[in-house]
Amino acid sequence: MERLQAALQKARAQREGGAAEAPRRKARGSVIPTRRRRSSMIDDVWQTLPELEVNTDVWQLHRLFAFKGGADAAPFDLLRTKLLRLVRQHGWKRVAIISANADAGKSTTVANLALSFSRQKDLRTFAVDFDLRRPSMARLLGQHLQTNMGQVIRGEVAFEQHVRRLGTNMGFAMNDLPVHQPAELLQSARTAELIGHIEEKYSTDLILFDMPPMMVADDAHGFLRLVDAALIVIEAERTPLKQIDILERQVADLTNVAGIVLNKCNYSDEYTGSYHDYY
Ligand SMILES: Nc1ncnc2c1ncn2[C@@H]1O[C@H](COP(=O)(O)OP(=O)(O)O)[C@@H](O)[C@H]1O
Ligand SMILES: [Mg+2]
Repeated sequence: MERLQAALQKARAQREGGAAEAPRRKARGSVIPTRRRRSSMIDDVWQTLPELEVNTDVWQLHRLFAFKGGADAAPFDLLRTKLLRLVRQHGWKRVAIISANADAGKSTTVANLALSFSRQKDLRTFAVDFDLRRPSMARLLGQHLQTNMGQVIRGEVAFEQHVRRLGTNMGFAMNDLPVHQPAELLQSARTAELIGHIEEKYSTDLILFDMPPMMVADDAHGFLRLVDAALIVIEAERTPLKQIDILERQVADLTNVAGIVLNKCNYSDEYTGSYHDYY
């Protein structure tokens, strides 16, 4: 893996200013305050959201371990801490989780990160499943839904009826069926408005977006302009180095690259399990 990192660093160094010159969503300068404003009105708004069904047996079956601390949650808690450092440093509020192809482990990473963030009680976070072609967050979390995010984006169903809340500070916006016209929906003005609505009404510190793979469809390309940064998930033993480099360039042209998670490594260590990042 050191070779992989060295080669990536070399490729990055050879690139002429690529990431540095990438267009950026205008920073809103809203770095998470250390003593956050605790408004009982916002807490009340959160309380009105329907609750997520907690089914830890299903979660563990789907490799979701971060609902409680401990050794299994450690890689995700570490990833949360590293991401949080960047989020605070740069004033980011929207982070997409992206990969080149399907099955890299994006949804598993987003769901685990969300469960880890749910234990960070001083932060209000949402996880949004925007892999509209192959949604999986609802299945991973064992949720049965009557409505979907397509209906929410089109204004046919109220966001507040559709989403689920875990505790007082973590929200999930999911689908259990594929949504029609995913690329058009994701790039529509309604989607941008919806994200603004979530941030304002629920006073979110961070929204995590589970995305479709970059190399499969153009859904993610347009959407990445709406986020502050992207975390790239790599299927470590299967993704060719060349493809990682191409993906990183593509993402860097659209938004900030928050880091790379090397998932499904055949080696692990006691601190990071199978998750490694190097930023
Ligand atoms: N670290 C891991 N080790 C082994 N299997 C994993 C790991 N992360 C994810 N998986 C499995 O890989 C498959 C694809 O994961 P998923 O998160 O749905 O990928 P994506 O959202 O990128 O398509 C799932 O069956 C999941 O359980
Ligand atoms: Mg997925």
